[in-house]
Amino acid sequence: MELKIPSHIPSHLVFDFDRLNAPEIMVDPHRSMVELYKNAPRIYFTPRNGGHWMVTRSDDALDMLRQPDKFSSDPKYCPAMVREPRTNPNRYDPPEHTEFRKIVNPVFNPRAVQAKETEIRDLARALIEKVRAHGGCEFVTEIARHFSVDIFLNLADGKKSDKEHLLDLVTSYTQGRNVTDQLAALSALGDYLKNMVAEREKNPGTDLTSLIVKGQVDGRALTEDEKVGMATLMFLGGLDTVVGMLSFIMNWLGRHPDHYQRLVKDSTLIPQAVEELMRVHGVAGMERAVTHDLEYQGIQFKAGDHVIFQPHIYGLDDEKIDDPFKVDFDRATCPHLVFGAGPHRCLGSHLARLEIRIFLEEWTRTFSRFSVIADGEVRTLGGAVWCPAEVKLSW
Ligand code: HEM
Repeated sequence: MELKIPSHIPSHLVFDFDRLNAPEIMVDPHRSMVELYKNAPRIYFTPRNGGHWMVTRSDDALDMLRQPDKFSSDPKYCPAMVREPRTNPNRYDPPEHTEFRKIVNPVFNPRAVQAKETEIRDLARALIEKVRAHGGCEFVTEIARHFSVDIFLNLADGKKSDKEHLLDLVTSYTQGRNVTDQLAALSALGDYLKNMVAEREKNPGTDLTSLIVKGQVDGRALTEDEKVGMATLMFLGGLDTVVGMLSFIMNWLGRHPDHYQRLVKDSTLIPQAVEELMRVHGVAGMERAVTHDLEYQGIQFKAGDHVIFQPHIYGLDDEKIDDPFKVDFDRATCPHLVFGAGPHRCLGSHLARLEIRIFLEEWTRTFSRFSVIADGEVRTLGGAVWCPAEVKLSW
């Protein structure tokens, strides 16, 4: 099939890259992508996956993400961004976006998140205890998936018995190899959440789902579609991202015993180690639509152009950080855009940091050493949210 290049795109800005299936994202993706981009324009157009721009550098991304009037989250500008249900607030621009975000903010602000510490620690301990006597485990399926879903179900007061079904739905979406598969998975997830919202409407409490059900914007109640959209975003935002990030981090620590020993000996280093390990292991991207014909950095963008950002690798940008692949827990600054930037910056970032910190505190307390069993570098399944295919550990 011939891939179409729109007429406003000059050939020197075209770079053929399939962001969901390229071999570079399947093995050691962070290093492979940085290598690949040595030969790419810093902002380029790929004809794959419907045709879209890719932004390869951290500073460009930061600048563009802070201009929602030009690079919008609203799918009305770009058919490729249409999803059902519409996952507000992620699909609105300010000022509407701000109103939607306020509804769920009480669950995600630093104080509310901190109050969850004991519950999260109990979940981490229980999962570690389950595998401790086995001498090893496959980390992604035996621990990471359970950890993030347990925490989320706890937050949203969801049924524990639905855990596996829910995670399968989310994984099919985030690791879908093409847009059609992703939309099918999203529709199934929407049906599941419709039922959950309906149940909570009959019997509201103080959990995340109840906040959504009771939420108001501009003095009116949310529509059913808005409630389901919001619930969808909460599920999608917090599941595969944490699974991927925690699994990459454990893969890295299991291959770097000296770094791990430092954390075992001094747990006060863990918060800064988490930041540094997140910097080199970004997992989630985001997309925007160009709102009107405009020129940016000498490039002509057309209204409706689709732009994809890759925070997966912005923490490895050698324009921002010296020796980017060196993991140094003592770095004075640790710039990354792992949680995005601008008005849509990750609402769950405090929760994600807490989850990873607590997990590492419990893991280092339990195991004085562990290692990864693997032939070669870490493999992933591709897709928009990067996650190791497996991380086999032994201790
Ligand atoms: C390490 C784990 C995580 C990573 C790497 C991550 C990454 C991101 C990124 C890059 C965005 C920006 C999306 C955009 O600009 O369109 C985002 C937004 C968001 N994240 Fe996270 N996230 C993580 C964990 C979580 C958790 C635990 C939650 C909790 C449910 C969460 C909820 C959200 C929500 C609700 C948004 C949308 C915010 C908005 O549009 O205003 N995330 N996340």
